[in-house]
Amino acid sequence: MIDFGRFYQQIATGPLAPWLEVLPAQLSQWQRESLHGHFRHWKKTIDHLPLLTPQRLDLVNGVTADSDDLTPRQRQGIETLLRQLMPWRKGPFSLYGTDIDTEWRSDWKWDRVLPHISPLEGRTILDVGCGSGYHMWRMLGAGASMVVGIDPMQLFLCQFEAVRKLLGDDPRAHLLPVGIEQLPELNAFDTVFSMGVLYHRRSPLEHLWQLKSQLVSGGELVLETLVIEGDENAVLVPGERYAQMRNVYFLPSAAALKNWLEKCGFADVRIADHALTSTSEQRRTGWMTSDSLAEFLDPENPQLTVEGYPAPLRAVLIARKP
Ligand SMILES: C[S@@+](CC[C@H](N)C(=O)[O-])C[C@H]1O[C@@H](n2cnc3c(N)ncnc32)[C@H](O)[C@@H]1O
Repeated sequence: MIDFGRFYQQIATGPLAPWLEVLPAQLSQWQRESLHGHFRHWKKTIDHLPLLTPQRLDLVNGVTADSDDLTPRQRQGIETLLRQLMPWRKGPFSLYGTDIDTEWRSDWKWDRVLPHISPLEGRTILDVGCGSGYHMWRMLGAGASMVVGIDPMQLFLCQFEAVRKLLGDDPRAHLLPVGIEQLPELNAFDTVFSMGVLYHRRSPLEHLWQLKSQLVSGGELVLETLVIEGDENAVLVPGERYAQMRNVYFLPSAAALKNWLEKCGFADVRIADHALTSTSEQRRTGWMTSDSLAEFLDPENPQLTVEGYPAPLRAVLIARKP
């Protein structure tokens, strides 16, 4: 089982303590429900990985760890185990000579976000929909004092725990397998990230309220999501699928999203970045061998998805909780 006890201890006396009124029961139920299927296999994989303290660790320029004292056989063993946790979508990671070339160049997203946000030094951070936790490591690299990621997908938790073991079991990073809707109103995080989540939410304004209720007064929201071109009234609600994804609900223009944030009571709302997703940023690799963006775009016109909608365009918005 994954041990969340250390996290409970860490938050027991600080501003996150009210979370303990609901979290242990939620995670106990989660542990009971995840006793079967792939999870058991993934958990065994994590158990077989060595707990290593890297001699060289770089979380500033990427997520890279290495040590001189590993034998070629040990290195090969690490790669074999990490491959058992495929598909790897968010990364890349470079771990003791194994380069996990993930579907997404999540480092490119980080490079688009980091220059626009308040410095992360000493901050307590919530990363909503953190995936495998790639950006969480980069947040620590940028000086955060604690990063809590939440993501309901079991595989992502297992990938995070595998990476955590290889990075020296850092006590400042925690991934919890819960959804944002399960969190009480904590009003406790200095920065909240929601990247790639809003379009998956059936009620986007509710999502923005939930994010706001996690922030301290004066705290910063970093919101990254799919958008469309257009004015403050433009919103696309796609049919059954968008770029082959089934669970896509609302794609506003960046101007409309700014309005939504203001309506939810955020202040100093800024549109910091706009970027078309390229087939170099999201693509099939040796670590994620299924279809990817190239197959989700119209082969005749890559400005459109296969369903005929505008191709994926993403925006970063920054806002402050008054
Ligand atoms: C497109 S991925 C984005 C991952 C990462 N934040 C990034 O920007 O690269 C969206 C993530 O949100 C997670 N997610 C979906 N519903 C969620 C919810 N209700 N609460 C928290 N995370 C959720 C998914 O499991 C998935 O990992």
